Amino acid sequence: MKHVIHHLGGRGGQRSILVHGGAGNVAPERRPLHAAGCLRAAREGARVLAEGGSALDAVERAVRVLEDDPLFNAGTGACLNEEGHIELDASIMEGRGLRAGAVCALADFAEPIAIARAALEDGRHVLYAAHGAARFARMKGFTPVGEAALITEAAREALAAAQQGAGRATSWAGSTVGAVARDASGLTAAATSTGGTVNKRVGRVGDSPLIGAGTYADDEAGAVSTTGHGEGMIRLAVAHSAAERMRAGSSAVDAAREIIAHLAERLDMTGGVIAIDSDGRFGLARSTATMSWAAAGDWGEESGV
Ligand code: GLY
Repeated sequence: MKHVIHHLGGRGGQRSILVHGGAGNVAPERRPLHAAGCLRAAREGARVLAEGGSALDAVERAVRVLEDDPLFNAGTGACLNEEGHIELDASIMEGRGLRAGAVCALADFAEPIAIARAALEDGRHVLYAAHGAARFARMKGFTPVGEAALITEAAREALAAAQQGAGRATSWAGSTVGAVARDASGLTAAATSTGGTVNKRVGRVGDSPLIGAGTYADDEAGAVSTTGHGEGMIRLAVAHSAAERMRAGSSAVDAAREIIAHLAERLDMTGGVIAIDSDGRFGLARSTATMSWAAAGDWGEESGV
């Protein structure tokens, strides 16, 4: 199958953040809403950077804004599995010490990226799953809100459509969220959060909580967050592969474009990537109809779909 790759980048600066609201096919009339949601998140991240916060603080903050926005498939508003339940995936990584934290198949918590950050800070393990992730979250002082608080009518409708074979297929939902940033000290960081795919099997885990697939950061290369067909992102280790392209000298936009082209050519799958290089210049690429995004920093701000 032929996939058209759209790409953009080259802007940015010493303090920059770039966020995405997921690769997919947002209806034209809803695209401004998605771009506005991304811009709110990027501005929050840029405010953290401007106030002296780290890139890690900035990506966590930006992704928290997107998790709280029911428009996006993460936290509140996340898509539902085949039994109508929420199973959330998230990961976060910083590029200086290569510390990382992640949770997967987590129910009942509104802030999976903050729990992933707690795992990073705790340092004992990288990835906590399901009941173990919930136990870890409670141990770190997070309070479960209950699944009902996270499920939206739109998520129920998307599941019903998928199960009736109507609308978009059961394959994936889009609207995973993510962020990459560079701060004034040169630290890079990446974060990704999702509900996964609509009508997924119970226990299915996608790329978003997997370091190297959904998220990667290395100050010597850059930071990456992915969105799209999680199974393909895992099989090609897309986030790590894009970072390695930057380490080898590719710009962020070239790295993003090349890996999305590779995903299309090698696996006939679609998705999107955002990346930031060690100088804070950003790049993004998608092979889907849309991928909402926004970038902000000392140099200004931009957004699109
Ligand atoms: N890329 C999100 C997922 O497949 O779960």
